[in-house]
Amino acid sequence: MSIAFAVKRGDPARGASPLIAVALAADTALPKALSGLDKATGGALSTAIKRKDFSGGKDESLLIVNTGSGPERVLLVGTGAGDVKGVTRAATLAGRKANAMGVGAMTFWSDALEGEKLEGAVVGLSLGSWEFRELHSATPVATRKKPLKAATLFVENTGAAKGPLAAGVAVAEGQRIARRLAMLPGNICTPAYLASAARDIAKRGKLACKVFGRKEMTRMKMGSFLAVAQGTTQDPKLIVLEYKGGRRGEAPVVLVGKGLCFDTGGVSIKPALGMETMKFDMCGAAGVLGAMEAIARLKPRINVVGLVGSTTNVVDGDAVKPGDVVFASNGKSIEIQNTDAEGRLVLADVLVYAQRYKPQAVIDAATLTGAVVIALGHVTVGVMGNDQTVVDEVLAAGRRGGEVGWQLPLFEEYKELLKSDSADLRNIGGRGAGTITAGLFLQEFAGDMPWVHLDIAGTAYSETDLTVMPKGPTGTPVRTFVEFVRGRAR
Ligand code: BES
Ligand code: MN
Ligand code: ZN
Repeated sequence: MSIAFAVKRGDPARGASPLIAVALAADTALPKALSGLDKATGGALSTAIKRKDFSGGKDESLLIVNTGSGPERVLLVGTGAGDVKGVTRAATLAGRKANAMGVGAMTFWSDALEGEKLEGAVVGLSLGSWEFRELHSATPVATRKKPLKAATLFVENTGAAKGPLAAGVAVAEGQRIARRLAMLPGNICTPAYLASAARDIAKRGKLACKVFGRKEMTRMKMGSFLAVAQGTTQDPKLIVLEYKGGRRGEAPVVLVGKGLCFDTGGVSIKPALGMETMKFDMCGAAGVLGAMEAIARLKPRINVVGLVGSTTNVVDGDAVKPGDVVFASNGKSIEIQNTDAEGRLVLADVLVYAQRYKPQAVIDAATLTGAVVIALGHVTVGVMGNDQTVVDEVLAAGRRGGEVGWQLPLFEEYKELLKSDSADLRNIGGRGAGTITAGLFLQEFAGDMPWVHLDIAGTAYSETDLTVMPKGPTGTPVRTFVEFVRGRAR
């Protein structure tokens, strides 16, 4: 469920609210604007700061139960340096705590909340309060905690706040869609389900939407993609979403997502322990769909195409086997030495499909390799590409969106590892540099498009409960996609 956001001017001490979150930077005196609230709480705010019960550091928080007038509770949250990142993170923490408390509605105050800080605060509150409860039974009304449904932010200038508020909501809604789709299990979130989610986004945002199935993909000779889909009766889907905010005929940015609704590994089957996390193997696809939702709301002046390649990597008697040779739609032959390296097989044909748009840039996102988790852990996106300018642009977009990436090299020398005795290339490269050889495999299908690949296997979902990020899907790469597109818009 989404949150209703609003902004207002005035004294945060005024008006009834079950909770006000007050975001303060490290080691600052209590701002003048809060003297009313301080008074209303009998001086609790200034006392907390004086006693150093709260000093505004990153991830610091202090809940004050207000027995005086005004808001019933005051939650102090620290923004550290007080920059955009700090305010966003503090808002995320506040949203999470507000949701856990079950207050239902809250207000938020931070010094000079405008522009990027305001946008960040909205994103933070929305995502901090996000949770996935739709497959749980409802708890009895008497004990039920109210999920956060409404948030009002204090600003100086409500007119100027409109843009950042709408942008924050757009980005947050995109991320919420991505997280929800990622969280839904493989038996519910099938390729057909992703296609219908795409149609919903298209309808809401007035985007063009096309969905191709096995029949059309056979006609398009997508033998690489279809090899992965060979072991499932579910119809694989190639989903196309087109946003037209630029001039007619202007080259679009194309976003591509790996949408493996489940990855058992196929005949090269994965170990049982932890295999359930492979429902997250569609996080690239969720990222594309979430980004298209956000873009449709933001309405940037640019053309954007979203492509999703979706299927399920499972085993039956007809499933593809190690050693099988298949032909991708650009005519290249591929020896499938490991059926668990399936994402690149799907993306190969989707990247060839992307070439028809003659894009200004293509970015793909995929939970592609376990190796990227070894290299960069759960903090950093693996970034590779064939055009350094665009790679740098994507890295900058990721930094702006709080999804930091790091570049890995696609040196020629690694290419030998993809040589096959029986085909143009094989789909694995051996033990070393697994993320790079996967990237190099994809490069073979990017042609001369300026192309960047994001390996999000370590960053698309969190295996542990973190301070501002619950266990589960993170929403990465929605913000990188959106920031890149915003950066390219006229
Ligand atoms: N979906 C996996 C990659 C993955 C691993 C995502 C861990 C998230 C967490 C991908 O399809 C895969 O199985 N890759 C193989 C490639 C190997 C066979 C060359 C891998 O990384 O083990
Ligand atoms: Mn796999
Ligand atoms: Zn996979």
